[in-house]
Amino acid sequence: MNWEQRIDEALKDRQSQGLMRQRAAVSAGAGRWLESESGRWRNFAGNDYLGLARHPKVIAAWQAGAARYGTGSGGSGHVVGYSEAHRRLEQALAEWAGYPRALLFISGYAANQAVITALAGAKDALVADRLSHSSLLEAANLAPGRLRRFLHNDIESLKRQLSRLLWSADGGD
Ligand SMILES: Cc1ncc(COP(=O)(O)O)c(C=O)c1O
Repeated sequence: MNWEQRIDEALKDRQSQGLMRQRAAVSAGAGRWLESESGRWRNFAGNDYLGLARHPKVIAAWQAGAARYGTGSGGSGHVVGYSEAHRRLEQALAEWAGYPRALLFISGYAANQAVITALAGAKDALVADRLSHSSLLEAANLAPGRLRRFLHNDIESLKRQLSRLLWSADGGD
């Protein structure tokens, strides 16, 4: 089977299981209302909880930033993409949060991946709610330590996982 055939087969398989994801384009994802071809909808699906994406001061700051720094960083933060603006924002965030330093990531997904990868060692156990965000579960799955998941929001299930861990740390299986 060649690549195209494999892809066609995989697509048919997903279609037959009802797993094909359809995206609907909306006028703008941030805001209380969404408009799409199918109508106007109250937005309970976004992450712009504080409505900052449409705040006039935030928009003006973005516009001024783009005029001053351009519309892209020009590279990875490890090379030339870490600008004076990033450094000053990290400093301001650290001061605001009361920590000595802060580190910016391009997304929450990337931050969760980086933190778990940096902190979890081979002898560590990771315990997570089964419905934790996929960025956490994916990173924990790839981390060298062992991942145990407990039932969503279920304290008894968490206790069972923790007691198994303590038991195995005491020399059990
Ligand atoms: C708990 C949690 N972690 C991580 C993310 C990923 O964040 P981002 O969309 O910035 O990658 C989300 C996004 O909804 C989230 O809800």
